[in-house]
Amino acid sequence: MIYPVIWQNNSVLLIDQTRLPNEYVVVEIHRSQDMAQAITTMIVRGAPAIGVAAAYGMYLGAREIETSDRHEFLQQLEKVAQLLRATRPTAVNLFWAISRMLKIANETLGTVEEIQAILLQTAQAINKEDLQTCQAIGDHGLAALPQSPEKLTLLTHCNAGALATAGYGTALGVVRSAWRDGRLTRLFADETRPRLQGAKLTTWECVQEGIPVTLITDNMAAHCMQQGLIDAIVVGADRIAANGDTANKIGTYSLAIVAQAHNVPFFVAAPVSTIDFELANGSQIPIEERHPMEIYQVGETILTPPQVEFYNPAFDVTPAELIKAIITENGVFAPHELIQGRHES
Ligand code: MRU
Repeated sequence: MIYPVIWQNNSVLLIDQTRLPNEYVVVEIHRSQDMAQAITTMIVRGAPAIGVAAAYGMYLGAREIETSDRHEFLQQLEKVAQLLRATRPTAVNLFWAISRMLKIANETLGTVEEIQAILLQTAQAINKEDLQTCQAIGDHGLAALPQSPEKLTLLTHCNAGALATAGYGTALGVVRSAWRDGRLTRLFADETRPRLQGAKLTTWECVQEGIPVTLITDNMAAHCMQQGLIDAIVVGADRIAANGDTANKIGTYSLAIVAQAHNVPFFVAAPVSTIDFELANGSQIPIEERHPMEIYQVGETILTPPQVEFYNPAFDVTPAELIKAIITENGVFAPHELIQGRHES
């Protein structure tokens, strides 16, 4: 099993996802500031994994606070929350995990040391729960996949795998469950320009587990669907609005449009913590813009003349009507029924 975020010997171990697949490097994080940096630079990435990392970041920040005064402690903890909230804007799991950590701190009527201990337990609980959530998503998703043909070829975008979660993955969790139960022939993975999470991370995960994977560039997906090569598409999500509109890695929207044109069912797999019930629709989801270097540079090579201007949105919003179903740990819901998923267990 692949676990991108681990609590060990009083520090957090992160698999450095910027160095895969060429190097497997584990980074040790001791301070909240370093955790914020690791999230910003995408050493750890993927919505649920960011949430888990931020929860540990809150604890690391809590243990750096040198006061025994509860009120002052809580004020300084809010500053740690601000630091972590400023890392990445789109994945709502980040804000969800930080809120959960702040809530438990405020509700704990004890000494600062007792609050710090509860914060560590809560971060560990968030970590453990996400792993169980992903396994449940995998199994619910398997049941939701088309019943025929018996063996399916699936396509995914970006990396919504073990690396993007506490382990097992959301979209890739569905793929793993399908593979385990003999229902998967092959996974097609979009390379996912510009950061290539599909090429670097999704294929790496598949190779680790012997899941047959075919890498395509993003602009080949329509051709593959036209050729009848794809039975269903499963992607992850960074934030889902209450009406089912879904923000995910840039390129997901065009994939959904092409899927509809070719009658290929398009599924989103995500934990309930990725659903932002405060937002009525996807137009309100903040979209992260990242550095243009992600577009103009590949390795050491500059691709463009210096005069060129760039636009580098990291996510897009797929309208709910293009999504067949949203697969959560609480079951599988049509986008307009999403509110039911909030409370079911
Ligand atoms: O920019 P990233 O790599 O953090 O974006 C990741 C994605 O878009 C994933 O599809 C999403 O977070 C779901 S992860 C289970």
